[in-house]
Amino acid sequence: MPTTNTPLITYTGISQQIEHHDMEATLLECSITNQIPHIHECGGNGQCTTCRIRVIEGHHNLNTRTQKEQEIARLRKWDPSIRLACQCYAKGNVSIERLVWTNSEVNKLQLETVPEGVAEERAIAILFCDIRGFTKMTSKNSSFDVAHILNRFYTVLGDPILINNGIIYQYVGDEIIGLFGVSGGIKSKNSTDAVRAALGMQYAIERLNRIELVDFDVNIKMGIGVNFGKAYIGHLGHPKHKQFAVVGDPVNTASRIQSYNKKALSSILISDSILKGIPADTLDIGRSFSSQMDGHNHETIIHELLGFQNVDIQLELQQSLDFLLKNEDVFAEKFYGKLFDKAPDTQSLFKNNMSSQGRLLTHMLGGIVYSMSRPESLTMGLQLLGKSHVRYGVQTEHYPVVLECLLETIQEELGEMYSDKLLSAWEQALEKVTSEMKRYAKDEH
Ligand code: HEM
Ligand code: FES
Repeated sequence: MPTTNTPLITYTGISQQIEHHDMEATLLECSITNQIPHIHECGGNGQCTTCRIRVIEGHHNLNTRTQKEQEIARLRKWDPSIRLACQCYAKGNVSIERLVWTNSEVNKLQLETVPEGVAEERAIAILFCDIRGFTKMTSKNSSFDVAHILNRFYTVLGDPILINNGIIYQYVGDEIIGLFGVSGGIKSKNSTDAVRAALGMQYAIERLNRIELVDFDVNIKMGIGVNFGKAYIGHLGHPKHKQFAVVGDPVNTASRIQSYNKKALSSILISDSILKGIPADTLDIGRSFSSQMDGHNHETIIHELLGFQNVDIQLELQQSLDFLLKNEDVFAEKFYGKLFDKAPDTQSLFKNNMSSQGRLLTHMLGGIVYSMSRPESLTMGLQLLGKSHVRYGVQTEHYPVVLECLLETIQEELGEMYSDKLLSAWEQALEKVTSEMKRYAKDEH
């Protein structure tokens, strides 16, 4: 039973109530302490907005908006009920709802920075992906199967866009369009994100054909075109029905580059602008073509994209993430089993519920892979994680054994997907994560 006068925080979405004892702790810190999953990509620095909440009741029991929060709320046109949990302190009962539940929702928040009613010129990378082979599928399968397969398509093709900091702009017929850099960013980053998404989509389709579609007797093919340029973006349309729109020559050109795949018998084509925007010797390029696109009076140079020249750690991790965490509880159980075997002294550090802890760990691993495409947030997030680990009593000597157990678990869970290349990508990523955590942990002492 709650102690009299102890403020209560109620999480409406999950009907959970916690006692709030530490008035110095933000609402985000209360969630973390009480093992309530709460996305906080920038580690409570008031920048990423992922910890946002809607205050359902008890608004008057919270501090007024901090300066950082005020600026964000003004830019994103938030009503007063939306707050940043990392900037909120409660002095009485509050009822709140977390507004971002999954890592894949984070990029959509970029749309809040797009102007209303007017279009603004922004330099973006545009990806068009066309799926072929549907006609055969629709004539051979029931409408239920077709709907199921279509949903699977949009999921597996959308994921590589979202995990690379892109926005799914539209599904038009058999086409899916992704945009990279809608809220800013430098050319090389936006272009690399788009290229990595294209390669991720190619891999996803191959896997879908090989595993999920074998019983449907269909083999889906796709063509992707990627271009970079200045396009006009805004929320436009009828005053009563405005929607996000992106227009301009770079968009039409991306679509035409995509169409050129049929002629070139290729899968992924990128414009010269994309190639030049990415450091030399990064991409593995096949044939190059020069073609006059419809509506242009000049030739456009396009290149066939085969892959990255060297192993791209992010792409490797992205491709294995779903598979690796398909059963999060098993992953966590295995990992903690190994840890407590190899380092029994660590067991006493874990005071809370172990299955919730396991889920927090696996969510965090997924979150790390997503936020690698937003490195500035990732670094700040790891800073907070490193600091909180000092509070849990974790010593720097604990990190190597945790890393070893994580890698062993990853190797086992990868099963048939295992390759030395993949494991080495996970090793490099986790070494980076733990060294950042340790670095900040040292600052804390
Ligand atoms: C790859 C490195 C690691 C990651 C990604 C990670 C992730 C997490 C996450 C997400 C939490 C939940 C609470 C929070 O967000 O602050 C947590 C809690 C915790 N972690 Fe880690 N961790 C790592 C390394 C370690 C190491 C080296 C130890 C040492 C044994 C450790 C021990 C703990 C303990 C004791 C807790 C608190 C458990 C409780 O509340 O009962 N972690 N960790
Ligand atoms: S803004 Fe609160 S965690 Fe990033």
